[in-house]
Amino acid sequence: MQLLSQFLKHQKTDEQLVELIDTLMVACKEIALQLREGALAGILGTTDNTNVQGETQKKLDVISNDVLKKLLLDNPLVAGLASEEEDDPVPGNPDGRFLVTFDPLDGSSNIDINVSVGTIFSVLELTPGDDPALHSTYLQSGRRQVAAGYVLYGPSAVLAMTTGKGVNFFTLAHTGDFILTRENVKIPPQTREFAINMSNQRYWEPAMQNYIGDLLLGSDGPRGKNYNMRWIASMVAEVHRVLTRGGIFSYPWDAREPAKPGKLRLMYEGNPMSFLIEQADGIASTCRAPILDVQPGEIHERVSIALGSREEVEALLSYHSADK
Ligand code: AHG
Ligand code: MN
Ligand code: MN
Ligand code: MN
Repeated sequence: MQLLSQFLKHQKTDEQLVELIDTLMVACKEIALQLREGALAGILGTTDNTNVQGETQKKLDVISNDVLKKLLLDNPLVAGLASEEEDDPVPGNPDGRFLVTFDPLDGSSNIDINVSVGTIFSVLELTPGDDPALHSTYLQSGRRQVAAGYVLYGPSAVLAMTTGKGVNFFTLAHTGDFILTRENVKIPPQTREFAINMSNQRYWEPAMQNYIGDLLLGSDGPRGKNYNMRWIASMVAEVHRVLTRGGIFSYPWDAREPAKPGKLRLMYEGNPMSFLIEQADGIASTCRAPILDVQPGEIHERVSIALGSREEVEALLSYHSADK
């Protein structure tokens, strides 16, 4: 059995990055404990607040955000943070080295029905001279991430993480240690499983409608095989399934908010998940370009997402290039 800290040292991970990851895991363990209490601690349900996304905040959105903020700002390595639940970036130690962007509780709509949720994090470095109180400081492309991952609070709590040397899974033991349970995860290039919110079908662009329509034709259609569908409504759970057994997950542009490229956020959903997917030999695309190449214009900007098994995502992209 290898502990997370031992594994990171074995991978010769930068010592300060190991220390930051340890802080993130202390926070995620606290969140996992709060989630386990659920209704008993009176922490289900919503608050009266609306976040910058226009979403009604769940009590656990706020609790998990506060846990992460407090622990990260207590770590002198942290120059600043940006969160789904914070309108503006929160500056930390001006001499700090790392910027952390995070989705403290992903899949919030599932919290009251006791379905898996997660915490997503992305680590960037402060460009010397930049002010961590300013939005511009965080607007770095996903290629600049030094680490990214999530903790999925499911039947077991599982950390999936990369520092650019592959993807590894760690399971939270009753001792409070994250133990290596799967090393060098690689996504199968082919799949028969797709994940998309079908209720939005009439709002998609034609290329997406045509692609999904062909999946539904199964072995009689151009894809030549039958597919199964999953939709959990927690991106962390969908991505974990894709990393674990392959698949394609998409939340594409839709006409409900045509000025926005989709529902999911680039800086703390799209980028960290895309780093993981590419490190596991999958593809993560906006349907027109790699997500990691997108140059952010604002911290809470949205991004269209299609990610997963290489050959399946390539098939989807062929519908979009044909549809120029
Ligand atoms: P969050 O709970 O952090 O706001 O994210 C929810 C996201 C993502 O986790 C999930 O894939 C998607 O919303 C589900 O959207 P629909 O409810 O429209 O299906
Ligand atoms: Mn939300
Ligand atoms: Mn989310
Ligand atoms: Mn969230």
